[in-house]
Amino acid sequence: MSTIPATQQAWIEERRGPPAQSLRLRTDWPVPSDLQPGEVLIKVQAAAMNPGGYKMMKLLPNFARGRPLPAEMELSGVVVDGNGTEYSDGDQVFGFVTPELAKARKQGALCQYVRLPTSLILPRPPSVTPLEAAGICAVSITSYHALVELAQLEAGQTVLVYGGSSSVGIAAIQIAKALGAKVVASASGKNEAFVRGQGADEFIDYTKQPIHEYLKANPPSPKFHAIVDAIGLMDPSLYTSSPAYLAPNGIFISAGDLPSMSQLWHFCKLLAAIVWPRWLGGTPRKWRLIRPTLGHMGDVQALVAKGSLKLPIDSVYDFEDVLSAYDRVVTGRATGKVVVKIDPTI
Ligand SMILES: NC(=O)c1ccc[n+]([C@@H]2O[C@H](COP(=O)([O-])OP(=O)(O)OC[C@H]3O[C@@H](n4cnc5c(N)ncnc54)[C@H](OP(=O)(O)O)[C@@H]3O)[C@@H](O)[C@H]2O)c1
Repeated sequence: MSTIPATQQAWIEERRGPPAQSLRLRTDWPVPSDLQPGEVLIKVQAAAMNPGGYKMMKLLPNFARGRPLPAEMELSGVVVDGNGTEYSDGDQVFGFVTPELAKARKQGALCQYVRLPTSLILPRPPSVTPLEAAGICAVSITSYHALVELAQLEAGQTVLVYGGSSSVGIAAIQIAKALGAKVVASASGKNEAFVRGQGADEFIDYTKQPIHEYLKANPPSPKFHAIVDAIGLMDPSLYTSSPAYLAPNGIFISAGDLPSMSQLWHFCKLLAAIVWPRWLGGTPRKWRLIRPTLGHMGDVQALVAKGSLKLPIDSVYDFEDVLSAYDRVVTGRATGKVVVKIDPTI
């Protein structure tokens, strides 16, 4: 067994604010030593970034986020203390830290050692590298929940993935194809080849014309069974116009997002559109927010092992260069996961 140090390097969220103000690279952060039954200790190899990470950093006050704590949630690594669970020292795994666990146990991904319950990790198949594995979990269980549990998507049905070049969108395209569905996906024109490469059968460039207007003028036949908004749109138009292109028993599913100050008006209009009763002229289509559940970890693992699910990497940054990784995520233009290499030997 490798020697486990008492302290580690970790990017700690110390206060509310943008990453450059909130984060500090600490060298004295304690390595967890008080594992509870069912928890393992993992030496982190790579961490993957999510837009939710920097948005929570900017918006949530310290008490709501549980600061100080290591930033980010998705990771890959090696088990260094199996703690009597089904995992042994040396097992290669990937997984994620839920916001609840992060707050309660002060855990995160941008550090060298993390303690996690076995319900939040999966064995890493050898076909996937540690850098690739780091970014699989959160977006994949998110998209799996949307397509399988909420939409109950079946082979032969058609789904629209709005935001097909986002990580949630990429996972949604690949999972929908694995289910045998037809996929229409949107992104900006520069990403058409990339989105088709993920498996999309048809492509719509949302920068040429508002997509709800395009779909009203060119409705699919039959209408979509489901629409997955993989961006978390604040503008309600794609939803409120959906009777023109979403089947009457279809469902509109949103990845959700935290509104900025400038989006508050759109956000209020979206909320009104969702709650307004149909008998008062509300949109006669179901709207649901994605709420990923851990019950789908095994399903995601099976798809990854079969080669049906693979998240492309947008870019890789060194551990010392985390602020540049945030700069990339903040652009909102990444195609695939932004990954931080934590173990320089991988
Ligand atoms: N509910 C959940 O459990 C959950 C879990 C994970 C993520 N999320 C949320 O899901 C959303 C997406 O996260 P992500 O990690 O997948 O994002 P991401 O990978 O950073 O998304 C980047 C992509 O988004 C596209 N994009 C940016 N703005 C767009 C717009 N206005 N319309 C259409 N496409 C746009 C860009 O494509 P173009 O350059 O082609 O525009 C870019 O390729 C975020 O709001 C995140 O917070 C929710």
